[in-house]
Amino acid sequence: MSVIAARCPQYEVTVVDVSADRIRAWQSDDLPIYEPGLLDVVRQARGRNLFFSMDIPAAIDRAEVIFVSVNTPTKTFGEGAGKAPDLQYWEKTARTIVEASQRNKIVVEKSTLPVRTAHAMERILNSNRKGIRFEVLSNPEFLSEGTAIRDLEHPDRVLIGSHETATGLAAREVLVEIYANWVPRERIVTSNVWSAELSKLASNAFLAQRISSINSISALCERTTADVTEVSRAIGLDSRIGRRFLEASVGFGGSCFKKDILNLVYICESYGLDDVARYWESVVSVNEYQKRRFVHTMVHAMFDTVADKRIALLGCAFKKDTADTRESAALLVARKLIEERAVVVISDPKALANARAELADAPASRVLFEADPYDAARGAHALAVLTEWDAYRALDYRTMFESMEKPAFLFDGRNILDHKALYAVGFNVFPIGKPALKHF
Ligand code: UGA
Repeated sequence: MSVIAARCPQYEVTVVDVSADRIRAWQSDDLPIYEPGLLDVVRQARGRNLFFSMDIPAAIDRAEVIFVSVNTPTKTFGEGAGKAPDLQYWEKTARTIVEASQRNKIVVEKSTLPVRTAHAMERILNSNRKGIRFEVLSNPEFLSEGTAIRDLEHPDRVLIGSHETATGLAAREVLVEIYANWVPRERIVTSNVWSAELSKLASNAFLAQRISSINSISALCERTTADVTEVSRAIGLDSRIGRRFLEASVGFGGSCFKKDILNLVYICESYGLDDVARYWESVVSVNEYQKRRFVHTMVHAMFDTVADKRIALLGCAFKKDTADTRESAALLVARKLIEERAVVVISDPKALANARAELADAPASRVLFEADPYDAARGAHALAVLTEWDAYRALDYRTMFESMEKPAFLFDGRNILDHKALYAVGFNVFPIGKPALKHF
């Protein structure tokens, strides 16, 4: 919404939320999320045509177009628990919109939703007794955290799904006109509502599938002394495959991939497409395997016991340039090591507060938080790089090595370090999908 407001001064954009704390934070320079470049964009438009408010009914009543971006987490209860999305926030929002509206409106689904959700929402919205007509559009978001501003300013595509009726097409045109203020027309793709909803889930499933594919190959590389970076380069040079999203890692994280794939699996199951469901489910199970495998490698390398050993985890965010730790592989690694009775020291340039909250239930004697990576490493038996922060490439690993217990281990869950140089410093180095470099 901030990018829309910054790019389109002729529109008035009001962002509303039920949380007073979040709205206050959006009104300050201490934004509630860390995203490079976001504060600059907010400052360009805030107070001019971008407003943050708690008065939800007033904002709904004034708006011609309403973007619904409420969360749709995986359901933790009842039918579909663990797979289906929890749509209670979406439904409450639809009812709030009906109550507060006095005239026709366009309602845009921004939240990632299961296919045919628009249909249900339309029924709620259009069952109003005031004679108001709501046109529902699907406009899924494809930005990635950490590069959100660039992704929004220069999107590969903007997707707008609508009904192919006269009113649906007219509503679609309103949204096309908004994006056309800065996105080239050929990048604004239109489709029917269901295709747009499904394209979002399928895009995330395809991206995650690439990571699970290369991660599965990384396990084979470790057994055969092939090098996954070399394999990935060789595969990616095929222009039909492409090079991006083929970086082997400790496993993908983030709030979207797992949730969206499980959502796709649930939809397939509900249509009786069990083989299709199993196919996509395997993308998630390979990812779980990769995370478990990483911990197994650590424990096994360190003489099959990490009990009471101090282990420094470099990075807890699910990727660099974000403070987000949702579904981060680092959390699973931390929990498994704690189960093994290790003392885990978590370091991260931005995500420590979230890491602390996520691990609040872990025994305080077994999990420590340390902003400075050198302090985290002091006295540790091992370092494990779990987030690809640029700063971790530039650390003085010799100094760290000297402050550590010996033999000192380094597990590079992101393959971002110079493994030969680290081996020369004295580390026993365990990359992903490459032969380990051991001094014994
Ligand atoms: C993902 C999609 O990339 C976006 O297009 C989508 O809009 C978004 O989900 C969403 O649905 O909201 P995001 O989760 O922010 O974006 O981050 P990604 O860059 O996709 O990374 C996801 C995870 O995969 C991270 O843990 C990352 O480290 C990992 N990854 C990524 C790899 O392990 N290897 C790779 O080659 C690429």
